[in-house]
Amino acid sequence: MRYAEITGWGKALPPTVLSNADLEQLVDTSDEWITSRSGIKERRISHVAASDMAELAARRAIAAAGVEMEQIDLVINATCTPESIIPASASYVQAKLGAVNAGAMDLNANCSGFVYSYVTADSLVRTGVVDTVVLVGVERLSWVLDYTDRATCILFGDGAGAVVLQPTDTEAGVFGSELGVDGNMADLLAVHGDGTVQPGSSLVPPRIVMQGSDVFRRAVTAMADASEAVVHEAGWDLDDIDLLIPHQANQRIIDATSRRLRLDPARVFLNIHAYGNTSAATIPIALTEAIEVRRVPPRANLVFAAFGGGLTWAAAAVRFGERVTPVGEVDDELPGTDESVWDLLAANFKSFGRLELE
Ligand code: ACO
Repeated sequence: MRYAEITGWGKALPPTVLSNADLEQLVDTSDEWITSRSGIKERRISHVAASDMAELAARRAIAAAGVEMEQIDLVINATCTPESIIPASASYVQAKLGAVNAGAMDLNANCSGFVYSYVTADSLVRTGVVDTVVLVGVERLSWVLDYTDRATCILFGDGAGAVVLQPTDTEAGVFGSELGVDGNMADLLAVHGDGTVQPGSSLVPPRIVMQGSDVFRRAVTAMADASEAVVHEAGWDLDDIDLLIPHQANQRIIDATSRRLRLDPARVFLNIHAYGNTSAATIPIALTEAIEVRRVPPRANLVFAAFGGGLTWAAAAVRFGERVTPVGEVDDELPGTDESVWDLLAANFKSFGRLELE
């Protein structure tokens, strides 16, 4: 029997930090409010293109898998902040990697994009359509944030994570999955002023608007229900879960999901304090960090669960492979920057037609 194993993992976080204290200077908020309502302490703001973050995360995952660029059959770029509508950002990632034998596509299911893409990739490998897939979750959300809107700008950050999937004949990969959406509720979380719905709308700076408390309530129910469903589909008990790796949108959503699954904190991975919500990138970044700190044992039973714009949700019950150490590593880093966080945000403010920050 053919299965699909995660054989490589990697992440790329831009170095510039936007702290809660920094945000106190921008909007009427406080470190105490942000920490107690969301669990977030800081997030990263990118000075490079999303495809640069994606490329580095992918290079690290490819080295961890020990595969050659020529072996890659497919690049999937999960993102809701593409660099352009045409071409898809995946084309830039494929070109920067030099993955000359690969196909490439973007997949956008907002914050659920990584889990949607992972379930897709697992199916393509299992059924023999392709052998080696590089799957990146990457976002540059700082470009679609309004840094005068305290309800949204505190939540999101930039970053990338990646995995490599390859065929194996030992049991690994997806054993239960759920992909859901309620398109009628899509307006609860949207980026207005972009896309093709209003001709000429690209003159309006795109920005995220969100009915936070409505989204919050739906996220808690959907993530917990979907997680329970995939555990049962896999034939596992809740006790069989070694680690829940949830989308990092709000620590209170994660805590509520964990309570429903009767998971103590030792079986839930959290890094939201460091990066905030990086949408499709949160789960591959969290998986990479969980492996690095040895919280993913060989043949671990993992649950990925996510919720986001669309309104989408997704979960997967995943058996990890035997190998939890990288085959290789790369020394590459993102290029450095002399720009401060205020310099980077000034570019965002400029695009909104506001005065540059002092
Ligand atoms: N600082 C201080 N006060 C604030 C802030 C802030 N940054 N933001 C909002 N408030 C105020 C509100 O104005 C409101 O004041 P009022 O009572 O005087 O009207 C009060 O705080 C409570 O606001 P709520 O929105 O009800 O606060 P809530 O407890 O729901 O927390 C939050 C807000 C953190 C946004 C939460 O609703 C949330 O996390 N929602 C889900 C986000 C999410 O999961 N999104 C999905 C993924 S995103 C994607 O797919 C791209």
